[in-house]
Amino acid sequence: DNERTTSPDTRGTGDELHQGVSGGNAMTTSQGIPVTDDQNQLRAGDRGPSLLQDAAFRDKIMHFDHERIPERVVHARGYGAHGVFESYDDHSGLTAAYLFGKKGRQTETFVRFSTVAGNMGSADLARDVRGFATKFYTEEGNWDLVGNNIPVFFIQDAIKFPDLVHSVKEEQDRGWPQAASAHDTFWDFISLMPESTHMALWAMSDRAIPRSFRFMEGFGIHTFRFVTADGKSSFVKFHWKPVQGMQSVVWNEAVKINGADADFHRRDLWNAIQSGDFPEYELGVQVFDDAFADSFDFDVLDSTKIIPEEIVPIRPLGKMTLNRVVDNVFSETEQVAFMTQNVVPGIDFTNDPLLQGRNFSYLDTQLSRLGSTNHTQLPVNAPKCPVAHFQRDGHMQFAHQRGRANYEPNGFSGDDRGPRALTTFQPDTYPTKVEGEARRLRAESFADHYSQANQFWKSQTEVEQKHIVDAFAFELGKCEIPEIRTRMLGNLRNVDESLAQRVADELAMELPEASPAKVAPRHDLPVSDALSIVKN
Ligand code: HEM
Repeated sequence: DNERTTSPDTRGTGDELHQGVSGGNAMTTSQGIPVTDDQNQLRAGDRGPSLLQDAAFRDKIMHFDHERIPERVVHARGYGAHGVFESYDDHSGLTAAYLFGKKGRQTETFVRFSTVAGNMGSADLARDVRGFATKFYTEEGNWDLVGNNIPVFFIQDAIKFPDLVHSVKEEQDRGWPQAASAHDTFWDFISLMPESTHMALWAMSDRAIPRSFRFMEGFGIHTFRFVTADGKSSFVKFHWKPVQGMQSVVWNEAVKINGADADFHRRDLWNAIQSGDFPEYELGVQVFDDAFADSFDFDVLDSTKIIPEEIVPIRPLGKMTLNRVVDNVFSETEQVAFMTQNVVPGIDFTNDPLLQGRNFSYLDTQLSRLGSTNHTQLPVNAPKCPVAHFQRDGHMQFAHQRGRANYEPNGFSGDDRGPRALTTFQPDTYPTKVEGEARRLRAESFADHYSQANQFWKSQTEVEQKHIVDAFAFELGKCEIPEIRTRMLGNLRNVDESLAQRVADELAMELPEASPAKVAPRHDLPVSDALSIVKN
């Protein structure tokens, strides 16, 4: 906003000054001081030297020098858009969350789609999982549903996340690949982590090369809780279904598209929204109770497992329409900060150890990525409801705090008193029962890593199965270390013999012995022991 509040007497009105000679806004420094020449530094004489005194030059160069901030440690490449979510009904029998409380109630949203492994400048059509992160600016604060387009995850416990990510990112001794899973360190890690097998199958399927962000599903993955105003709770799994339907490309197309237009997905989203063809996604939940959780074959706290929709169908809650592109990619798409810890009353966590770890990681990383605890005040991150607390100061503080007390309890009144906690507000954190000894060993209920991988394989059509076989053969074929291929084939035998055989055939390899079908959570073992487990 270049409007001036004071007008220098000698130059006419501020408006005139800021109209500039060509009718555009007049250029100023970051301090608002008119720039009289944007082509030349201040020099002594005709040919220099340059003068340190040139504040306009220093202002410009200094700001440029600091333009870059760290890219996200994962999901660095992404694209965002604004939207609106509308509730289909009054769902207060399920959750007290305000946004679901009334038919037709609208809530503004911001979505960022992303790839996971690639750097910020990598190509859109990489074979990879896609992020599907949504910020709901509700009347009761921001709810972030930070999901992916695949309903399961590679690991069960957040403590393995840095290892997973280090393995998939570029290799530290060579600096490649910058956006692909087809390399030794990734498959080395996956082959030693049987719990990753289920997701590895999804990642080798057509899901990992979507036609565009408009034709993708999204999943909250973890089991969450819904809590009603009178304290009743159920477990839920979140699902996004694209109203446009689902579409993928085939690998040959993906490779060509990456070469011809690395921005294919972001361009597609931008074009669709700009032309009024707004993408829509239906949000639904699978709802189940403790009795179902106890009777289910797998642990509902295990993020490497799904709950089949045939067993628990999805109940639709509402629809999101993406209707506005960003004005500025940096200030919106890049500065947006999603955090799994952002849940609103009526939505709560479970003890999924992956979710619990995420609840620490996001805000933590954003402190270094965005540089200040006050990034919550950036327009894209700021709640659209009133905010009141006693958090003070810090780098880049914009909130103009009034009144006297900045602590509580305090004995002041009126404007000096500040906010008070709503101690009677319901629902509060769900009072989950917690007991047991502190221990690291994973429960036995997390130990079956292959049954659901087998179900996924069987659910695929013949064409889709061929794509999975081809993808495994292509990816493993890129591995330089033969033992990695052998170990991976040993794991695939536990998924399905024909899958393993077909991949082995494409790789011109003999099928190795199957790895143990059940692997107790023994990842605390040194790798040499883990290797011998696989060899047994
Ligand atoms: C970023 C999804 C597991 C740490 C993201 C983003 C998505 C996502 C969609 C990008 C958000 C954006 O567009 O800004 C998931 C899903 C997971 C998972 C679905 C498993 C179910 C984890 C775990 C950790 C983790 C276990 C760490 C313990 C991070 C970090 C970022 C990130 C540090 C960067 C955030 C930022 O810089 O703003 N994740 N993630 N994620 N994730 Fe995860």
